[in-house]
Amino acid sequence: VGEDGPGRQPEGRALTDAAAGEPAPAAPPGGVWRNFYGRRRGKTLRARRQALLEDALASRAIPGVDPQANPERRPLDVAALFPGAADLWLEIGFGGGEHLVATAAAHPRVGLIGCEPFVNGVAMCLAALEGRGLPGLRLHPGDARWLLDVLPEASLGRVFLLYPDPWPKRRHRDRRFVSDANLDLLARAMKPGAELRLATDVPDYMRHACAALRRRSDFTIVGGPSSDPWEGWPGTRYEAKALREGRAPAYLRAERGPGAGP
Ligand SMILES: C[S@@+](CC[C@H](N)C(=O)[O-])C[C@H]1O[C@@H](n2cnc3c(N)ncnc32)[C@H](O)[C@@H]1O
Repeated sequence: VGEDGPGRQPEGRALTDAAAGEPAPAAPPGGVWRNFYGRRRGKTLRARRQALLEDALASRAIPGVDPQANPERRPLDVAALFPGAADLWLEIGFGGGEHLVATAAAHPRVGLIGCEPFVNGVAMCLAALEGRGLPGLRLHPGDARWLLDVLPEASLGRVFLLYPDPWPKRRHRDRRFVSDANLDLLARAMKPGAELRLATDVPDYMRHACAALRRRSDFTIVGGPSSDPWEGWPGTRYEAKALREGRAPAYLRAERGPGAGP
């Protein structure tokens, strides 16, 4: 990721669904429209990875998430998707899936959903999953906001937001994933006491996130930003790059509750 956010995109150019060559989705009832500014596609995929997207994705993907597939925004049947799961966790923007796959392997009794709109990342994750089993891991190859809409209220026990696109320019701040609107979506879908875990190597993003969380009564920051990762932390691809380039990661935990919104 470069200075302007998703580094795979040219300077300052927003690649919306339409610009990326995707059919523009119909606005769902209520008229909510969301632009996605990251990039959906990178280098041409090798045949093997393309085949994984065509075959292996079908058994991992969660049906009924996007507004075209579920215009009424019916809530997902989480119990049917994750039979017997002890809890439900979500990773937003899993990149190549390194943390996602390691987390699924370390917590086989937890249902885990990974969201990632960048198809090359989804293909990389499917390649890492080949031969691994891990039936409790499901993917949404798209924008996490559409998934958050259709998760039942108070269904998530933990949410990972690891190295969100930084969007450092002031005029792009409203593209950051940590925003009042997205914290509303998270607050609705998270259980009381559920944990939000944020990692970033961008000090201004951490300040922005802390300020946004402190303005609300429905999240409580636990401790403060720390330079120590969480126990069992497997790292991420983006983090490894940040460390190689001399940037320092910071980690933050916030709990859902006790209040009911700002
Ligand atoms: C800087 S990368 C970090 C990837 C990975 N978490 C890591 O640490 O290696 C941020 C990722 O967030 C994804 N992303 C951006 N907006 C998103 C959204 N609304 N929903 C889901 N993922 C999103 C991007 O496609 C990108 O892959």
